[in-house]
Amino acid sequence: MMEVFGVIGYPVGHSLSPVMHNAAFRETGYNGIYVPFGVRPENFESAVEGLVALGIKGVNVTIPYKEKITEFFRQEREVVEIGAANTVDLRKGICYNTDVDGILRALRNSNVDARDTNVLVVGAGGAAKACVYALRESNRVSITNRTEERGREVAKKFGIEFVRSENLSAMKFDLVVNATPLGMKGFPEKLPVPVEVLKSKPIVFDMIYNPPETPLIKKAASYGCRTVSGVDMLVHQGAKAFEIFTGRKAPVDVMKKAVISELKKLI
Ligand SMILES: NC(=O)c1ccc[n+]([C@@H]2O[C@H](COP(=O)([O-])OP(=O)(O)OC[C@H]3O[C@@H](n4cnc5c(N)ncnc54)[C@H](OP(=O)(O)O)[C@@H]3O)[C@@H](O)[C@H]2O)c1
Repeated sequence: MMEVFGVIGYPVGHSLSPVMHNAAFRETGYNGIYVPFGVRPENFESAVEGLVALGIKGVNVTIPYKEKITEFFRQEREVVEIGAANTVDLRKGICYNTDVDGILRALRNSNVDARDTNVLVVGAGGAAKACVYALRESNRVSITNRTEERGREVAKKFGIEFVRSENLSAMKFDLVVNATPLGMKGFPEKLPVPVEVLKSKPIVFDMIYNPPETPLIKKAASYGCRTVSGVDMLVHQGAKAFEIFTGRKAPVDVMKKAVISELKKLI
C-alpha cells in the first residue's frame, strides 16, 4: 500500500521538501508519496492528532512549528539539547533534528574537516543551535547574534563563547557559518559578518539555499575562501529524514538535482 509522508508548516507553499522526497521515492522505487500540509496555528494540535489518526507515516516540520512539535512526541537526544525538531517518525512516535546531520554531512561532502577548528556561528535561532550542537564537541565554537541577550543565552546553554559583532573584525576563524536569513531572497543583502572576517580566508558555510549563491558566498569566494552551500545542508537533512522514513539509503544526487531544478524556477 502506498505510504503517505509530508511537511507540516505555515505557510508551506515555498517548501522544496515535496519535490526532493518524491524524487527520492521515484528513484528508489519506494511506494510513497510526499505532500505539503499547510496548517494554521489554531489548528496545529488537531492536525497533529489527525496525522496519527490518518496513518501518515512521517512528516518534516518547518516554520513555525519546529519547537511546538516536540511537545507531542518522544525526543531524540539532539532534540532535547536543541529544543527543536524537523522530522517525526509517526509510526514510532519519535521526533528528530536532522539539521544536525545535514550540517555535518554538508561539511564532510565539501571535504571540510570540522575538527579542532575555530568556528564562528552567526545567529541564535534553531539552525544556529543545531550547528553549535553539531560542532561544539570537536571544535572551539563561538557565537554572535544581533540580539546579544539571545546570543548569550545560547552560548551559556552550550558552554561556548559569545562575541559581540563589533569585536569580530579583529578576530580570525577557520570556519564561519551563517545561520541568519541575511542574504536570503526577500531579506536585506547585508553581509552577516564584517568583510574583515573574510580576509583570513575562513571556510564560509551559508545555510541559506535561496539563492544558492548568496551575497556572503559571492564575497567569500572573491576573497579566495572555500564555500559550502545551504543547498547541500538542505539535501543532506532531507536525506537523513528519508533514511528515517524508509530505512533505505537516500539517493542524494537525485535529491540535489530535484532541488536545484526547482530553485531555478524560483529565481
Ligand atoms: N539549508 C537548510 O537546510 C536550512 C535549515 C534550517 C535553516 N536554514 C536557514 O537558516 C536561517 C536561520 O533559520 P532559523 O530557523 O534558525 O531561524 P530563526 O530561529 O528565526 O533565527 C533567526 C536568527 O537570525 C537572526 N536574524 C534575523 N534577521 C536578522 C537581521 N535582519 N540581521 C541580523 N540577524 C538577523 C536572528 O537574530 P535575533 O535573535 O536578533 O532575532 C536569529 O538569531 C534561515 O535563513 C533558514 O532559511 C537553512
